[in-house]
Amino acid sequence: MTNSATAGLPARTSSRIRSLGYIGLTATDLDAWRTFATDVCGLQISARSTEEQLLLRADERSWRISVTPGDGRLTHVGWEVAGKEELDLLAAELDAAGVAVDDPGTADERGVTGLIRAKDPAGNQLEFFYGAKMGLDPFVSPRGITFVTGDQGLGHVVLAMPDMAEAQRFYLDILRFRVSDWVNMGPFTALFTHVNPRHHSFAMAPSPGPAMMHHFMLEVADLDMVGRTYDLVTDGAAPLTSTLGKHTNDQMVSFYMQTPSACQAEYGWSGRPIDDATWTTVVHDKPSIWGHRQVGPGPGAPQGG
Ligand SMILES: [Fe+2]
Repeated sequence: MTNSATAGLPARTSSRIRSLGYIGLTATDLDAWRTFATDVCGLQISARSTEEQLLLRADERSWRISVTPGDGRLTHVGWEVAGKEELDLLAAELDAAGVAVDDPGTADERGVTGLIRAKDPAGNQLEFFYGAKMGLDPFVSPRGITFVTGDQGLGHVVLAMPDMAEAQRFYLDILRFRVSDWVNMGPFTALFTHVNPRHHSFAMAPSPGPAMMHHFMLEVADLDMVGRTYDLVTDGAAPLTSTLGKHTNDQMVSFYMQTPSACQAEYGWSGRPIDDATWTTVVHDKPSIWGHRQVGPGPGAPQGG
């Protein structure tokens, strides 16, 4: 029923975006990334990889993380929609909101059927796609790791944003990511958002500097997989940046390590899902119930989520 109280309110409250599909990073040393991905994380190198592009698998998709030569920064974040109709509608909505959107013609290169791109207010390159290619061969983790993906997507990314108000307008009002909660990190508050039952696929924290990715998260199916990987890292396989701990908001048991790019990786287990029918947003006064002690010189933004 439409009445004066509801007139003018948006009819659509859920995002057209289904999940975090993929991320693209750069690194000065692709060999270091190859070793980090396989020997530490347990990711599989995709047969589609080339000398100039390392493509990494975490599940049956042909790839989930790409690494190309560069200074270590994030090159793109790929958000998945259900199909062509949703992609066309999203393109129209971005355009109507004044966001420049185009088709870069790189769907084949990304291994997807359709793709458009737009920049968020901080200048991060976002890609929206559908029809991802599955791998030719079954996913086999070199370390026997099972990653939690499926309808929860790859995991999550946490980006530092120079202008939180602008970023919230873009991600909440235009893309319609839903607020999960806020977490007080001390000098600032971070915002966590979801697009599917994963507690957060995307979080943002204010940063006076340029936009950057603080970390991405990989969730594994078993606490022992986290523990064994933690052993490898504490034995020196990769720089530990935050000790094992449990987050207040998604209650994930995880640790953080430095990747060969300019970001960290969170490696965790048992994040709690969100049911939108019953979820209420809260503010947490600290990021962790226990642990997550910062031990290394990670890139400048917050430890959390
Ligand atoms: Fe995280």
